[in-house]
Amino acid sequence: MDTKIQTSTRCLDKKAVKIYPDQEAASVYVAQRIAQMIIQRQREGKQAVLGLATGKTPIRVYAELIRLHREEGLSFANVVTFNLDEYYPIVPTHEQSYVHFMHRHLFDHVDILHSHIHIPDGTLSPEIIQEYCISYDRKIEEYGGLDLQLLGIGRTGHIGFNEPGSAPDSTTRLVDLSEITRSDAIDDFGGEDKVPRQAITMGVQSILKAREIIFLAWEKRKAEIVRKALEGEVGEKVPATYLQNLPQVEYVLDKEAASMLQRQEWSDR
Ligand code: GLP
Repeated sequence: MDTKIQTSTRCLDKKAVKIYPDQEAASVYVAQRIAQMIIQRQREGKQAVLGLATGKTPIRVYAELIRLHREEGLSFANVVTFNLDEYYPIVPTHEQSYVHFMHRHLFDHVDILHSHIHIPDGTLSPEIIQEYCISYDRKIEEYGGLDLQLLGIGRTGHIGFNEPGSAPDSTTRLVDLSEITRSDAIDDFGGEDKVPRQAITMGVQSILKAREIIFLAWEKRKAEIVRKALEGEVGEKVPATYLQNLPQVEYVLDKEAASMLQRQEWSDR
């Protein structure tokens, strides 16, 4: 391992927390983890089923995966993806749609098959959404479940768009976005009235079924919610707390996002 990278990999309360000096080093590590998983599945003659996230946080991870594809021959031919969420309603060509985001930051630059890409459809008519959501979860199961899920965290403690109040057994569904989440998106959409009020999100249960989960958070602005997510009481007020004590979860943080953690034993800081 690169000695410049200062990591802590203690497992306490079954939590694995890695704290990197910056998001660059952390992102390279996460991309390596994903690449190893893809290669391992290739050797087994199998598909790698990835759950993917949007937002600013994973952008550098995707950039590193593109570099591995271009410079080191990493193929995505055996990769199948399921994105966590999509605004509703939204057309795929909208600059803020997650379809647009994923193509811009990853899919257009690697050799993934278009038929292997799954992103919730923000154009459906309301009466067929419930059936569509059931089929989204069913399709994940048909592929044998998610091998690895990438997760960011919103200011409300949401994972995907599972806002406060989401139940641990929730499945993929149409949800209302909280005012905090909508206000965080105002700049991107260019006005409060332009931010969608709803989204389709994979449910908490759908996420927690993944065989590996990598939770990412960088920067000071995430420090308070990271503390609540890792150290707060588990419950619907902060849906990210549902990840606590799950053996398949690894938290990958930069120093700033980890700066308000109080359990010293999680790091060598
Ligand atoms: C959106 C996404 C989440 C993401 C969150 C944080 O709400 N639906 O999946 O984790 O944004 O975004 P950022 O990484 O930009 O802080």
